[in-house]
Amino acid sequence: MDLFRKKQLSSTAAATGSTLNKTLGALDLTMLGVGAIIGTGIFVMTGVAAAEHAGPALVISFIIAGFACVLSALCYSEFASTLPVSGSAYAYSYVAFGELLAWVLGWDLVLEYGVAAAAVSSGWSGYFQGLLEGLGIHLPTALSGAYNADKGTIINLPAVVIIVLISYLLTRGIKETARFNSIMVVIKLSVVVLFIVTGVFYVKPDNWTPFMPFGFNGIVNGAATVFFAYIGFDAISTAAEEVKRPQRDLPIGIISSLAVCTVLYIVVSLVLTGIVPFQNLNVSDPVSFALRYVDQNMIAGLISVGAIAGMTTVLLVLLFGQTRLLFAISRDGLLPQALSKINAKTQTPVRSTWMVGGIIAVFTGFIPLDRLANLTSIGTLFAFLVVSLGVIALRRTHPTLKRGFTVPWVPLIPLLSAATCGYLMYYLGRETWIGFFIWMAIGLLIYFLYGYRSSNLNKK
Ligand code: ALA
Repeated sequence: MDLFRKKQLSSTAAATGSTLNKTLGALDLTMLGVGAIIGTGIFVMTGVAAAEHAGPALVISFIIAGFACVLSALCYSEFASTLPVSGSAYAYSYVAFGELLAWVLGWDLVLEYGVAAAAVSSGWSGYFQGLLEGLGIHLPTALSGAYNADKGTIINLPAVVIIVLISYLLTRGIKETARFNSIMVVIKLSVVVLFIVTGVFYVKPDNWTPFMPFGFNGIVNGAATVFFAYIGFDAISTAAEEVKRPQRDLPIGIISSLAVCTVLYIVVSLVLTGIVPFQNLNVSDPVSFALRYVDQNMIAGLISVGAIAGMTTVLLVLLFGQTRLLFAISRDGLLPQALSKINAKTQTPVRSTWMVGGIIAVFTGFIPLDRLANLTSIGTLFAFLVVSLGVIALRRTHPTLKRGFTVPWVPLIPLLSAATCGYLMYYLGRETWIGFFIWMAIGLLIYFLYGYRSSNLNKK
């Protein structure tokens, strides 16, 4: 048994050509990135992170998590500009580390995108129902949340509906998807800026003291929690085969979308903790709440609408990444071939889009998802860690390969990146680790029962 058989570079889609339609440029990619990044993390999770972990030092938590992401983004950029193929970290490690680790990473990313999408659509549903209530419309309790006998909820219907709608949009074609995404991204950026320019006039510096009520430990716990807010820039690299000039445009898209979001997050967290004493921030819509707190109800309403748009685009990119990932894995034979069929008319993987949409809809409809953000984060951090080390490995094994973008100071930056990711993983807690191990065990079972035998590399 050869668990470390590697894919030859000459056999990747980068060398042999892809069947997907190439229509995306650097600006589309940056928009996709911002579309994936700003969502539930900043609109929902900042509240808990400030109230329970970091206090006003939330801004430091955002800086630490952002630092980990910037380092990883550099590593992703080098890979994406060297191997512009669908499948992102999965595809990179197939070449750098061989099949077993590639599968582990692919399975890990399925967790990242799938669970994240389910969690985000839950958050979406919460905001959406809040908006309906503002209009005097109340959903029947049974349809308003995931199954919970005590509360009388059975299915989270709005969350299911939004997943089905997004899946439909994705089957229509990538250019249509990118256009819809761009409009929503503009709306979401506008409401974030609106929050900042309105909120800044209500900041009371007194609210920033004590600055670190839970000490440094609290800050790092906060960083591990808000890491979720940055997830998404890595999803851009799953679109590699649909990019016109991938070697130039992918690094630009990854780095600029992350830069924009990091700056916004730092400012938002400062303003937020400046308006509201941190103890009061433990609510499900902290950003709107802060403006209601200072009687800016109109603007708070606008921000809720923007947050809904914002979370919609996150869903779009996560589901998109998920289907492209499955496409890449099944093309290699590790999952059934049906998942890599492209519809002739729309040039999109229609079947796998509906399959993914269906599974996520079931998850988000019936399973309560309170703790899934952490599970998403641990999966993502693991992928970042492996990709960072992969940069060093690929430099050794393929030193002369043409790289559109190179990480400076190798191996220092990749090592620092891996260490930072490992550090944040450590802070995610026991329960998250157990969930992560269970998921990985299921993945290994699938590999040994199915993937190893049906892999394309086995047929050669
Ligand atoms: N970063 C994305 C969000 O916060 C996953 O919703």
